[in-house]
Amino acid sequence: MATMIALPRPPFFMILFLMVLLPSPCRSADPDPLQDFCVADLKASLSVNGFPCKPVSEVKSDDFFFDGLAKEGNTTNVFGSNVTAADVLAFPGLNTLGISMNRVDFAPGGVNPPHSHPRATEAGVIIKGKLLVGFVTTANVLHSKVLEAGEMFVIPRGLVHFQRNVGKGKAVSLTAFNSQRPGAVVLPFTLFASTPPIPNNVLTKAFQVDEKVINDIKSKFAS
Ligand SMILES: *[C@@H]1O[C@H](CO)[C@@H](O)[C@H](O)[C@H]1NC(C)=O
Ligand SMILES: *[C@@H]1O[C@H](CO)[C@@H](O)[C@H](O)[C@H]1NC(C)=O
Repeated sequence: MATMIALPRPPFFMILFLMVLLPSPCRSADPDPLQDFCVADLKASLSVNGFPCKPVSEVKSDDFFFDGLAKEGNTTNVFGSNVTAADVLAFPGLNTLGISMNRVDFAPGGVNPPHSHPRATEAGVIIKGKLLVGFVTTANVLHSKVLEAGEMFVIPRGLVHFQRNVGKGKAVSLTAFNSQRPGAVVLPFTLFASTPPIPNNVLTKAFQVDEKVINDIKSKFAS
């Protein structure tokens, strides 16, 4: 008796074809590695997209381990929060692997101010405390939720987002990025503390306030 084999219909083949053939930016934020590892030589004079690899003969097991996220960041600052980055600059073993992490500590009431990561989507988990987590879409819709320990969130690549500690004690989150160096555009600094500064007449028009207000905000971030 002949058994009928159901052949996948053309759309299936087309989807498979597209998944295999589309260039890597559709699958990951950073380019794919071309070798097992490429521990960054952060001091190399050569400049490439990423960092050149240090010679394999000089690579040690320690290049693949990092204890920086074990340490609590000091939250005694204007925002009451502290980001400890485990990106390629802090952890050179991440070079070419397309991933990195952050630890964020929050004092009670502390805020990780509105910011975006131009090169990565972010996934985070609350380790301790209670955080209000939110991001705003390009259609200016705010998605937000209060999360507790063990709960996760995702921030789509490039979108502006924030966290605020809404619990009674300290809070800690760990976040992961699909880039070795996601970058951070921190809006208060980007808009009011750039070097050289954005002209006041740009900011007064953009925010529909007078120059006093702009100078007042700028003064808060003057170094
Ligand atoms: C974050 O914490 C580290 C470690 O305590 C400290 O060196 C750094 O100055 C802090 N950063 C800010 C912005 O407070
Ligand atoms: C945290 O930073 C503040 C302000 O810079 C400083 O006074 C304090 O000693 C620091 N705390 C620790 C534990 O390092």
